[in-house]
Amino acid sequence: MNIGIDQISFYIPKYYLDLAILAERNHVDVNKYYKGIGQEKMSIPPHDEDIVTLAANAAYPIIQKNGASDIDTILFATESSIDQSKAAAIYIHHLLNLPQNCRCVELKQACYSATAALQLACAYIALHPQKKVLLIASDISRYDLDSVAEVTQGCGAVAMLISHHPRIMKIDNMTGKYTEDVMDFWRPNYRKTALVDGKFSTQMYLKALEGAWSDYQAQEGRAYDEFAHFCYHLPFSKMGIKAHQYLTRLNKQTMQAEHIDAAMIYNRIIGNSYSAALYLGLASLLDHRNDLEEQAVAMFSYGSGCVGEFFSGIIQTNYQQYLYTTEHQRLLAKRQALDYETYLEFWHYPEPTDGQTITIDQHNHSTFRLASISNHQRHYART
Ligand code: HMG
Repeated sequence: MNIGIDQISFYIPKYYLDLAILAERNHVDVNKYYKGIGQEKMSIPPHDEDIVTLAANAAYPIIQKNGASDIDTILFATESSIDQSKAAAIYIHHLLNLPQNCRCVELKQACYSATAALQLACAYIALHPQKKVLLIASDISRYDLDSVAEVTQGCGAVAMLISHHPRIMKIDNMTGKYTEDVMDFWRPNYRKTALVDGKFSTQMYLKALEGAWSDYQAQEGRAYDEFAHFCYHLPFSKMGIKAHQYLTRLNKQTMQAEHIDAAMIYNRIIGNSYSAALYLGLASLLDHRNDLEEQAVAMFSYGSGCVGEFFSGIIQTNYQQYLYTTEHQRLLAKRQALDYETYLEFWHYPEPTDGQTITIDQHNHSTFRLASISNHQRHYART
């Protein structure tokens, strides 16, 4: 069946930290970050952005352009949840004024959950071809200050409309999966920052890639040389390079940079957006290449803990007409650099635990912002 991604739009906050600032603070050569891990900047949310405002601002252009009447499901993928019970999708449903006969749910499995949501959405549309699913992946990546992982933070949201006869990318039925119970990266409920065994996590990523690729091949998936491009989950862009080197070696092929470069452009200047990262890579590829019509693109999703999935899709004819490239470029162009002190101030986000009321200063002038927290409830506003 012809089902897949009909629209794809991303959103990031207006602030970033240049990793040169952390290189100076850590007394290391800046090329360790710019080249060694392949990251130049990381997006930093001000106090009036959270996973809900990131998500609502990512989805808003899609709703403006397409309306909302056929959307009857919102799948919200995240690992930086704001509530242990209520799904962030319900806030989105309200902010975007979606129809009341709509189901809303939040999904979690580290950075992988958006891919589970995509597979579930495609299966749902196969049964209900007149309906559309709004799928949003939204995350804020935070590691301890002064840890080696600090330079691999970032944040962002990607919203996608999943439908029958998609205008961007048809998702293939074949998919390869890999699961193993490991502690490479995790965040117990009482912690604000993730715990990580950094080197082990990169090894597990490659092991899951190998396992998922071999399962994809066993499901009679496409051969390596059928792909025009490869998109990898990007915790940092060097990981994408290492992954592709590994896959080319497994397939006795030669590494070609043009098979991965376009998908890494946004990640280098945004950082790890966890569940959104793979799809930010897809948006980057689509925004930077206009020669992909009817081409097969490979996708590898990885979530620590761990689950990996290798799948693929076909880029649709005239996809260039349905992108949000101008909006994406505008967001990137208007960003402002932070100094170290303001980065620290934003890093310590306000979270009253006693029900007190706090009004949050306005930094975010996009459509939706977090305005206040009171009585243990978050209040969002339209700007
Ligand atoms: P580190 O200790 O800073 O790493 O930690 P390093 O000292 O090995 O240096 C990194 C690279 O820089 C090396 O290259 C050095 O040679 C190079 P490599 O050997 O890897 O090719 N280097 C230089 N290059 C140029 N000029 C120089 C220079 N100096 C050194 N002067 C690490 C790095 C990524 C491990 C750390 O930042 C970390 O723990 N990050 C968080 C964990 C992570 O992102 N893991 C990725 C896989 S797990 C995953 O993707 C899931 C995740 O997204 C979460 C989820 O699923 O929810 C994280």
